[in-house]
Amino acid sequence: MSATVAGPLQESFAGQRIVVVGGTAGIGAAIVRGAAGRGATVIAAGRRASEHMFGAVQGVEARAIDIASEASIRAFFAELGPVDHLVVTAAFVRPGPFRNGSMDDARTSFEGKFWSQYLCARYAEVSRSILLFSGAYSRRPQPGVSIIAAINGAVEALGRALAVELAPVRVNVVSPGLIQGTDAYAKMPQDVRQAMVDGTAKRLPARLVGDADSVAGPALSLMASPYATGTVLDIDGGGLLV
Ligand SMILES: NC(=O)c1ccc[n+]([C@@H]2O[C@H](COP(=O)([O-])OP(=O)(O)OC[C@H]3O[C@@H](n4cnc5c(N)ncnc54)[C@H](OP(=O)(O)O)[C@@H]3O)[C@@H](O)[C@H]2O)c1
Repeated sequence: MSATVAGPLQESFAGQRIVVVGGTAGIGAAIVRGAAGRGATVIAAGRRASEHMFGAVQGVEARAIDIASEASIRAFFAELGPVDHLVVTAAFVRPGPFRNGSMDDARTSFEGKFWSQYLCARYAEVSRSILLFSGAYSRRPQPGVSIIAAINGAVEALGRALAVELAPVRVNVVSPGLIQGTDAYAKMPQDVRQAMVDGTAKRLPARLVGDADSVAGPALSLMASPYATGTVLDIDGGGLLV
């Protein structure tokens, strides 16, 4: 007879402690708000962490971490203690052309999105699940983003390997397509960004470009689903299909 498990549909995190590294902006901040709204105590971590960041949202504490530094990651988790779930949305990447791009930028990108997630997973004391972030470029690359494609592929492989090695802790990966309204494209001129969003929306089967909340909902479901581990969840408007 199979064991009884709490169904994913209730998605309650009451009494659970969740750390979101990258919770200070974008998809991470949406996960912080969503988890707190479902009863969790949430630690939102990033360089900009400040106590006023989540204002009226109950149950959220902001703490500083620099994912560029292994010492900072180690110290952060030593001080944090045990959590039910670890989410890592924090990332910085420096893409460029494959042949002529800077090797420093390529190596910095691996530090900023692969080794950072690897180290968070390694130092965190987690009892229920780890959620890592890759991105659609792993399987739908474009010229000029080969380093991001390689990092995303490595994160997805790491997620599967850790699902086996760290069991019964569940390990999953979310792979977003283009998401609007996050800091990722904040430096782009507004008209160029809007043209990118409009052009992508026309191409995608979903006929829209999602925002941070459209990733946070499925991410929270994955964290709450006792039967989901080793999964890569694409939230991309169907972008892999066209
Ligand atoms: N947005 C998209 O279109 C898209 C598409 C595909 C994949 N993704 C992936 O989805 C994930 C989340 O993306 P997003 O758009 O939500 O990100 P975002 O809005 O750009 O936010 C990035 C987060 O990373 C944190 N961060 C950056 N450098 C850090 C450092 N050195 N130390 C600590 N924290 C640092 C930032 O916090 P502080 O500034 O406070 O440090 C911020 O909370 C990333 O892995 C991204 O690659 C996003």
